[in-house]
Amino acid sequence: MQLQGKTIVVTGVSSGIGSEVVRLARFAGARVIGIDRNDPSLSLDGFVKADLSTPAAIDAAVAQLPERVDALCNIAGVPGTAPAKLVGEVNYLGLRHLTERVLPRIARGGAIVNVASILGAEWPQRVNEHKALAQAKGFEAGAHWLRDHPVPQATCYQYFKEALIVWSTVQSQEWFLQHGVRMNCVAPGPVFTPILGDFVAMLGEDRVQADAHRMLRPAFADEIAPVIAWLCSDASRWVSGANVPVDGGLASTYL
Ligand SMILES: NC(=O)c1ccc[n+]([C@@H]2O[C@H](COP(=O)([O-])OP(=O)(O)OC[C@H]3O[C@@H](n4cnc5c(N)ncnc54)[C@H](O)[C@@H]3O)[C@@H](O)[C@H]2O)c1
Repeated sequence: MQLQGKTIVVTGVSSGIGSEVVRLARFAGARVIGIDRNDPSLSLDGFVKADLSTPAAIDAAVAQLPERVDALCNIAGVPGTAPAKLVGEVNYLGLRHLTERVLPRIARGGAIVNVASILGAEWPQRVNEHKALAQAKGFEAGAHWLRDHPVPQATCYQYFKEALIVWSTVQSQEWFLQHGVRMNCVAPGPVFTPILGDFVAMLGEDRVQADAHRMLRPAFADEIAPVIAWLCSDASRWVSGANVPVDGGLASTYL
């Protein structure tokens, strides 16, 4: 896979899937600028330390990015063991805000990749709600909509991953037509990263056991990263508005 000469901004670089994307993208020739609230422990071509849960911090981070980038990978995220408000801010509202702010810097032919989850697979059950939230444009309008439509703590992670898939899908075509920038989601199943234990706590033993019998094992982060990198590359130049499961076939067993 060729990423030679591309400048890629990656969030969540200091752990898990984000770290693997950095390694792979740099190996494939990209210049990678990372953003995370924690310091990274691997080589990068640039790093911005930022908390991606507030618009002010996001705007300050964007001001430090290169004027022109080829791709943005939104990988930073928190599990549903965090307070629902924070899950919404990091996994959805902040991601949306960052993407809207970076879009003017993304060159034609560029790409945006959002890391969703297999836990967002039930978006069709709430599609109208998620479309209404997608229509509440901007961080503040989105936060206001969420105050009027509170999300239960127990399912907040699933809700915001569903919302991310719906927003990405409905927004992607406009940006592809107007800016020539593609936007796609990747939906991993369980992955061996530091937050896997949080997902077990969040879902409960019964659901975890049920899923365990439907798959060989959780993924390693280096099995997710190549799909994200491919979606940044010119090889996927006609792929836009897709949500690509990378889950060892787990989602297919829900049919
Ligand atoms: N691990 C899994 O089983 C799994 C499954 C499906 C989807 N995902 C998604 O993959 C993405 C990456 O998760 P991971 O498993 O690599 O987790 P991780 O905890 O290893 O990495 C997440 C990174 O995001 C950063 N981050 C969190 N909140 C932030 C904030 N407010 N500002 C800036 N950075 C912040 C963390 O510092 C960390 O470096 C997340 O969006 C997660 O929801 C993970």
